[in-house]
Amino acid sequence: MALSLTARKLVPCLSLQASLARHSESAHPVLPFVPDFSRQLRFRWPATFQKHRGQTRHSFSQEAASARRGVVQAVVAGEVIDIQAESVVTQVETEAAQKPKTIDLACPICYGPIERRGPEGFSRAAVDASRFECPRCKRSFPGKQGYADLTVLEGAQEYADFLPPGTQIFRNPLVSFVYERGWRQGFAQAGFPGVDQEFVMAQRYLEPAAGGVLLDVSCGSGLFTRRFASSGKYSAVIGSDFSESMLVQTRDFIRQDRTLDDANLALVRADVGRLPFETGSIDGVHAGAALHCWPSPSSAVAEISRVLRPGGVFVASTFLAPRAPIPSPLARQARQTFGPNSAYRQWKEDELRDLARACGLVDFCCTRNRQFIILSVRKAD
Ligand SMILES: C[S@@+](CC[C@H](N)C(=O)[O-])C[C@H]1O[C@@H](n2cnc3c(N)ncnc32)[C@H](O)[C@@H]1O
Repeated sequence: MALSLTARKLVPCLSLQASLARHSESAHPVLPFVPDFSRQLRFRWPATFQKHRGQTRHSFSQEAASARRGVVQAVVAGEVIDIQAESVVTQVETEAAQKPKTIDLACPICYGPIERRGPEGFSRAAVDASRFECPRCKRSFPGKQGYADLTVLEGAQEYADFLPPGTQIFRNPLVSFVYERGWRQGFAQAGFPGVDQEFVMAQRYLEPAAGGVLLDVSCGSGLFTRRFASSGKYSAVIGSDFSESMLVQTRDFIRQDRTLDDANLALVRADVGRLPFETGSIDGVHAGAALHCWPSPSSAVAEISRVLRPGGVFVASTFLAPRAPIPSPLARQARQTFGPNSAYRQWKEDELRDLARACGLVDFCCTRNRQFIILSVRKAD
């Protein structure tokens, strides 16, 4: 496990490592992992809307999310165990949690503030009846099927970008349907720990964003978005993806979960390379199993860095390359010349570290298991 720490990152990284170490039997200690629910969290959501600089800004805070109880199953040294998660609510008293939080939507063309015309809130009915308008670009974006479509080409009739397979395949409704019903579980073969455990790991790394706005980019069918919203740890959660059918699937799963009825949860269609959020407006960004799908990871990570506030955290899981059959400088040169040899990129840890650094993100910290890696980096203060 590679760790590079400052005081700010020390707590999540060390507590994660401590849990791993306690239950580790092997050199790859991801699977023997016990979520630690000992921490008590308090969380308040005021539900207010503010007029801000002449536009309707949406901010959230509702009185007291109720305590949630649940049982999480974890695999510890090969055995499935049940973990009681009792009252995982009460006690995140961060400055951010006390203030009403805004989701600062921005125009994907000029990054200026977006004005909303229509009812408040992010319920499907409210979003579908809304238009999101950029006064500077004289461009309006509709709400449709429960999400705000803030992609540049929304509504374009003749022109379409060429999309790489890692983007295009997930726009297929059948792929979106099967994604959470089997496809995602298949990642276990590469060393992914399973969604429940990956979620716990992500939450630990996202600790600096507690009480703030969390953006789940490339959320797919919303498997992590829903868990983040249920956790009660964030003042607002945004699920975002480029795929229309993934967003529809996310919306349907959200609707089936009555505990999410009052959640501060917005769905936004966005290209990760052109995020429709104001600079420095997001406390944490999560990207589960998506970095290897993005058309330009450098544009995407630079965008994530732009929207993060100073000290904000970016947490991502992705696939590492299996042990290289040829020496890595040669392999790198071949990839740069001929492109990747599959639709999906497979990473080396050093490449991820380098990419983050190039985009102004510091304190790289990661956990690995075979081809699985989950990493955390922080926007410099
Ligand atoms: C393998 S899925 C990951 C879904 C989910 N986050 C998870 O952890 O399982 C990759 C996701 O990346 C999205 N994606 C691909 N290209 C994208 C782009 N340019 N902008 C935003 N999302 C993109 C796909 O639509 C897909 O939902």
